[in-house]
Amino acid sequence: MKLLNKLKLFRENLKNIIDFNLRNTLKLKRKVTHLKNEQKQGLFASLPQETQALAEDKEQIFYNKYNLEHLKNNSSKLEYIENLTVLEILENYFPQTKIKQDEHILDVGAKNWHYIEALYNFFKNKAPSVSISGIEIDAYRMYINFHTRYDYAMHRINHMPNVHYIVGDVLEHKDKYDNILVFYPFVTPEPLVRWGLPLSKLKPEQLIKHLYDIVNPNGSILIVNQFENEYLLIKIILDNLGHEYKDFGEYTSSFIHNKNRRFVLLVNKA
Ligand SMILES: C[S@@+](CC[C@H](N)C(=O)[O-])C[C@H]1O[C@@H](n2cnc3c(N)ncnc32)[C@H](O)[C@@H]1O
Repeated sequence: MKLLNKLKLFRENLKNIIDFNLRNTLKLKRKVTHLKNEQKQGLFASLPQETQALAEDKEQIFYNKYNLEHLKNNSSKLEYIENLTVLEILENYFPQTKIKQDEHILDVGAKNWHYIEALYNFFKNKAPSVSISGIEIDAYRMYINFHTRYDYAMHRINHMPNVHYIVGDVLEHKDKYDNILVFYPFVTPEPLVRWGLPLSKLKPEQLIKHLYDIVNPNGSILIVNQFENEYLLIKIILDNLGHEYKDFGEYTSSFIHNKNRRFVLLVNKA
């Protein structure tokens, strides 16, 4: 890393340490009453012409199969598309035969849980009594309208039984789960610092080791990375730990063209 970049990282990290500690002391909360909705015409207009019809067909299938009416009427276009993408990832890579009736799922790094409708409807569809927990270390990060991630997450889950948003560091979380989902974990310093976290929170080896400890035997950890270097680093960590995994390689969404490439790994605990 160039000296200038190192200095920039150092400065941003100092700022993050102060801001992160401040917001976790204040724990500001303010009830969200509704979510901004956008009309969903031309959802896939940014895709190449030849793939738009395919995306429209798949959206219709998911809409019917996963009861997306509430989401479609209460979301921005991007949020709706991101939920469709999460559903597609789960359909393609999550081992559905393994889902038990009283399944406990953990989603790591839930942010404002803008994709909880996808998780909820996917798992409910298979196992009505499933419980889903999302854990977020930086839940009190604030938006320009003075609402926090916490506020949005709580609003999004207010009609969902057995869904829990937990504020905390997953490394200190000891509960056991049948399956774990990790969408875009931090593996390298720059993305983590850009997202406002102190560098001390970057512990990818410990993260993987810990998740393996808290997933029940016969369970899985689905990991989606968004940069090739991060995906390769996670594979090195898994290899060093001797954990078995399926490498699905690159995933391309049918619904959006992402400038950051995405990669999928599925760790299976014996
Ligand atoms: C790149 S974001 C991905 C957010 C979300 N999963 C998504 O798909 O949009 C990573 C998230 O993980 C959270 N995070 C990082 N380390 C964590 C930890 N040790 N425990 C809980 N959450 C963590 C971050 O605060 C951030 O919200």
